[in-house]
Amino acid sequence: MKVLVATEKPFASIAIRQIRQVVEAAGYEFSLLENYSDPSQVNAAVEDADALIVRSDKVTSMILDAGKKLKVVVRAGAGYDNLDLESCTAHNVVAMNTPGQNSNAVAELVFELILFQIRCGFTGKTGFELRTKTIGLHGFGNVGKYVADISKGFGMDIYSYDPFVSERIMKNNSSKQITNLDELYKKCQFISLHLPFNDITKKSVGYDLLRLMPQNAVLVNTARKEVIDEDGLLRIFEERPDFCYLADVEPDCKKVFEEKYKGRYIFTAKKMGAQTEEANINAGVAAARQVVDYFKTGNEKFRVNK
Ligand code: 3PG
Repeated sequence: MKVLVATEKPFASIAIRQIRQVVEAAGYEFSLLENYSDPSQVNAAVEDADALIVRSDKVTSMILDAGKKLKVVVRAGAGYDNLDLESCTAHNVVAMNTPGQNSNAVAELVFELILFQIRCGFTGKTGFELRTKTIGLHGFGNVGKYVADISKGFGMDIYSYDPFVSERIMKNNSSKQITNLDELYKKCQFISLHLPFNDITKKSVGYDLLRLMPQNAVLVNTARKEVIDEDGLLRIFEERPDFCYLADVEPDCKKVFEEKYKGRYIFTAKKMGAQTEEANINAGVAAARQVVDYFKTGNEKFRVNK
């Protein structure tokens, strides 16, 4: 069996060493393609692979066509909007993710962005504090829980909206449940997005929600750029000079921000949420173990396609 790790954005080398160990200890061959510049390189590398491990790399039907021996694809991470699930099913390929493994890293980035912004980029200007401020978690999965945890440490008042999570779970994580999304945006000066990107969430955060946020509103997006309606975001920026947007994903309209809204936004250069050694090790090793487990026992616990 050959296990290919194909990542345009490389894992830390310590993570690669540990992934390799898991694969080789199972008696399989390890193969690595990282930092590639063209998806056609994945097509070539996947030809004789039985398993493929990726990060945000797109797994298209072209790649699945090329990987004639592929049986399993694991997205080392949470969001699997980069996998063509229908095509995986059509190619008889099991698709999995590794939920929760990089969540703390993403949650810490939320605060790294917020703290830099509210202290005015450490320029010497007067900023403001987090204690007693309201934070709204739009989505309360693994990352949302860690964000709630950190928010508690800062003495913030925490509210969460997630139709799939019970009040009890939110309460156990120091958060009050909000069942009406408008209410969340109305109440919270800080909103942190933790919803997946899919057909339902696409462009679901726009003007009608953002206009409800209180003065000195800060919207943090460590989820996906596609959940934002950028026209609505630009409209709110035009109308509300107090509004800030901090994102781990550059918006398509980045140029407008650069021209008109200096100091009111932060966009990371590359998706940075999961870029810690710990997250790379956790997600990468989990992915390798899931591949091995699938081949040895048929375990499909983290399967995401039908
Ligand atoms: C995820 O969905 O797990 C995160 O967005 C991390 O993505 P990355 O592995 O491409 O950094």
